[in-house]
Amino acid sequence: MYYPEELIEEIRQKNDIVDVISGYVGLQKKGSNYVCCCPFHSEKTPSFSVNRNRQIYKCFGCGEGGNVVTFVMKYENCTFPEAIKLLADKAGVVLPEVEYSEEAKRRETRRQRLLEVNKEAAKFYFYQLRTPHGAKAKEYLDKRQLSEETRKNFGLGYAPVRGEELLAYLRQKGYSDDLIRDVGLAKIDERRGTTTQFWNRVMFPIQDINHRVIGFGGRIMGDNDSGPKYLNSPETEIFDKSRNLYGMNYARSARTGNIILCEGYMDVISMHQAGFTQAVASLGTAFTPGQAALIKKYTKDVLLAYDSDGAGVKAALRAIRILRDAGMSGKIINMNPYKDPDEFIKNLGKEAFQERIDHAENSFMFEIRILERDFDMNDPEEKTNFHNAIARKLCEFGEDVERENYIEAVAEKYHIGFDNLRKLVINTAAKTGGYAVAPEKPKSGIQKKNTPEENVKKAQRLLLTWLTDYPQLYSKIKEYITPADFTIELYRKVAERMFSDIENHTLNPAGIINMFADEKEQSEAASLFTTKLPELENETEKEKAFHDILLSVKRNSFNYYSEKLGVDLSAMNQVIEGKKALEELSKTHISLN
Ligand code: GTP
Ligand code: MN
Repeated sequence: MYYPEELIEEIRQKNDIVDVISGYVGLQKKGSNYVCCCPFHSEKTPSFSVNRNRQIYKCFGCGEGGNVVTFVMKYENCTFPEAIKLLADKAGVVLPEVEYSEEAKRRETRRQRLLEVNKEAAKFYFYQLRTPHGAKAKEYLDKRQLSEETRKNFGLGYAPVRGEELLAYLRQKGYSDDLIRDVGLAKIDERRGTTTQFWNRVMFPIQDINHRVIGFGGRIMGDNDSGPKYLNSPETEIFDKSRNLYGMNYARSARTGNIILCEGYMDVISMHQAGFTQAVASLGTAFTPGQAALIKKYTKDVLLAYDSDGAGVKAALRAIRILRDAGMSGKIINMNPYKDPDEFIKNLGKEAFQERIDHAENSFMFEIRILERDFDMNDPEEKTNFHNAIARKLCEFGEDVERENYIEAVAEKYHIGFDNLRKLVINTAAKTGGYAVAPEKPKSGIQKKNTPEENVKKAQRLLLTWLTDYPQLYSKIKEYITPADFTIELYRKVAERMFSDIENHTLNPAGIINMFADEKEQSEAASLFTTKLPELENETEKEKAFHDILLSVKRNSFNYYSEKLGVDLSAMNQVIEGKKALEELSKTHISLN
């Protein structure tokens, strides 16, 4: 979906940021800003600040920031076009009908058609469960203690013994056999013609976050029925198993601040029935990074309620890794002495389960506890090996404070002297290089402070913030600094726009943020206008600080282009010009007034 930038800007301007945010949270006036406790992370003292002049918000606690559109996207968990729509409606701006290309139109019509077939099939199965044919399925669901409300909520149904009924029903609605096959409900072969995928199974429609049926899971009812316990729809144009989660359509609005990840459909259903509507499960396959990304749109706190058997533990260890790589924290719910959440709740009830949620185990401590099983603690050598293995794992923490905290926790739990364990970690780190076992790849979500790269970024950010506060400085530095000196692509884009805005006397930070449709980019762009400037006593100190930042940006740019010289001829100009500018800059005094 594409709207012209002027229209987006008009919508933004018609929605005052203070008014809009006040509609969601209670703001209080403080100086020239409005403040409150941040709605995006938990805190007791307000560090969330909204600036009416700049039409920007920023949380100094968690770093979240942006303009009114960013706020709506983040708060409502919606996309950029959805936020624009919401704000346009609020301000009474009529959005133009979107022009789709022929190709896009055809694809959309086909998707709609496939979704319709699924919806009709779900209706058919739902109805069958309530006929005499479905008596056995009904009995099965009774045995599993699912209430009528739960059955309706999840649209549970029954696929009859003979497949022809479904085919007849869908054909009579006007859907072709090819379409029925393409959505995964039937197979077509020469000898047997069209045969249905599901027969004599309890049916679980699988919905996307917008409650549209994208596929099915079918479960046998007896233990000695033929075929696998669960049969799922194959992947189709509308069914991507790696990017959807069972139950997410309800869990997204649970507002519990966390998501509980289970292994099975039945677990999700019985959790929801017990009031834990934040429960979801993957779709008959292992948890994927795509599913982690989906959850992350709603929360970073994930609780794992996997089976307590060997396979469940293995799957949990995998999921922890995936969550960590996505920058999320996972905790593990202890299901003992039961196998899964379904059994647990049936036997001990929801209060007991809530207690287990409250006492969920930190994922690192869980990993160590599982690791321990591989070693015989009565054998001194094995015990030493275990301690070494712990030390190697502790080395993976990039942040000192975090690592120290874990050393403390592990030392206490496994009765290892704190100083001894700490020494072991340091020795291990020394042997393997650096603070850690060479980190496989920079973990997203964990901000590493003060790396050279971070320093470079910070200098570029500070320079842009400084110019936002004192646009008059631009004319004094423009002979030394160009947008090309901003070596981070997003910063460069912002600088280009900002410099031309300053020249035209139309500087408008909130508008610049609109250049980016992605929430992360918006937040990053916002940080360029809101980096905390050093609080300095007097003019001389300020001038010195500004000069340092300028030099550091220029020096980095010079190094950056020098390195590219061999491969990129166009870098030559930058280097020659940069050298001159650097020499001049270092002896030039720039006054702030
Ligand atoms: P119940 O056994 O009825 O309590 O269901 P459950 O949802 O707890 O299933 P279970 O824990 O056995 O398995 C977890 C998930 O793995 C299921 O929900 C299915 O998504 C998937 N699964 C289980 N068995 C099969 C199978 O035979 N084939 C496939 N493709 N997936 C399966
Ligand atoms: Mn189960």
